[in-house]
Amino acid sequence: MQKRGRAPKRDASETGRLTIAVRRVLIYGDPLLRRKSLQVDGDPAALRPLVEDMYQTMYEEPGIGLAAPQVGVSQRLVVVGSVADDDAGEHVGPPLVLVNPEIVSRASDLVPFDEGCLSVPEIVETVDRPRAIRFRYTTLDGESIERDAAGLLARVVQHEVDHLDGVLFVDRVSFLRRQLLRKRLQRLAAGVRA
Ligand code: NI
Repeated sequence: MQKRGRAPKRDASETGRLTIAVRRVLIYGDPLLRRKSLQVDGDPAALRPLVEDMYQTMYEEPGIGLAAPQVGVSQRLVVVGSVADDDAGEHVGPPLVLVNPEIVSRASDLVPFDEGCLSVPEIVETVDRPRAIRFRYTTLDGESIERDAAGLLARVVQHEVDHLDGVLFVDRVSFLRRQLLRKRLQRLAAGVRA
């Protein structure tokens, strides 16, 4: 998910970590974004180099969440930046790596939020989603975690898990808004094919 208020891009050379690569983010219209990603099997620690690239790519854009299919890897893997995990926005948690994330339950109340996505540049739309979730994932160390989240973390996890199922936030806007977006989305998709 895109960070609100675009910050100036950092020069990759400033980081001095040349073994970590900023990957190309696939843009709306690329069929890989519509594919259902595969469950990660085997030792999740093997994903570390990919995870480092994904973090670098996310911070560069800048984003607050990135799913592996957005960099062309069809696996159930997500990175999330340091965001608030409560409704008040007071408690900010550490960045998270989610292997095989699953939403276990959702609060019944929906809240609106303006979402953007690194794969759908220049478009911000209000999306209603459950305010809070309970979710489960595996860490890179192979530990299984189940926890609750509200606030921005609940929002980002729902947005990113959608990516793993080939769903984009523009699929979740109202029918009317989607009609209004149709031309802009077609232009994005045409850019990919050009
Ligand atoms: Ni996204």
